[in-house]
Amino acid sequence: MERTLFDRLGGMDAITAVVQAFRDRVAKDDRINLKFARTDLARLTKMLLDQVCEATGGPCQYRGRSMKEAHAGMGVTTGEFDALVEDLVMTLKQFNVPKGEQDELLGLLGPMKSEIVEVRSHEVGTALPDGFQAAPALPG
Ligand code: HEM
Repeated sequence: MERTLFDRLGGMDAITAVVQAFRDRVAKDDRINLKFARTDLARLTKMLLDQVCEATGGPCQYRGRSMKEAHAGMGVTTGEFDALVEDLVMTLKQFNVPKGEQDELLGLLGPMKSEIVEVRSHEVGTALPDGFQAAPALPG
C-alpha cells in the first residue's frame, strides 16, 4: 500500500514542528498578521494541526469550523492568501520537505482559496474589519 502523505511528511512530530514554524512565520509577516490580531493562537495551532493531519491521511479529526465560516467577514484578499501560501512553502523548504510532498500538500489546501478569499485584490496588509468576531479559546 502507498504510504500516506502524513507518513511521508514524517508523522505527527514532524507535522507539529512544521505547523508551529509556519504559525511563527505568519505572525512575523506584516502582509497578513493584522488578520490574527484577535485570534487565540493556541486554538489556531491545534486546529491547523488537526486539519493538516486529517487531510494528509493521519489519525486525527478536524473539529473546527468550515473554512467559509472561519474566515467569514475577515476581508482576506487574493494577495494575502498568496502571501500565506508563500509562507507555507518557505516553511516546507526550511524543513527540507521534498518538492513532491510540498506540491501534494498545496494541492490539498489550495482549493480552499475560494472559501477564504473575500476581496479580489492584490493588496496585502489590510486591516481586520471591526466587526470580525474571533472564535473562542478552546476549553481546558
Ligand atoms: C489554505 C489556506 C488556509 C487554511 C488551510 C486555513 C485554515 C484555518 C483553520 C483550520 C482555522 C481554524 C478554524 C477554527 O478555529 O474553527 C483558521 C482560522 C483563521 N485563519 Fe485561516 N486558513 C487559511 C488561510 C488564511 C488566510 C489567507 C488568512 C489571513 C491572511 C487566514 C486567517 C485566519 C485567522 C485570522 C483565523 C482565526 C479566526 C478566529 O480567530 O476566529 N487564514 N484558518
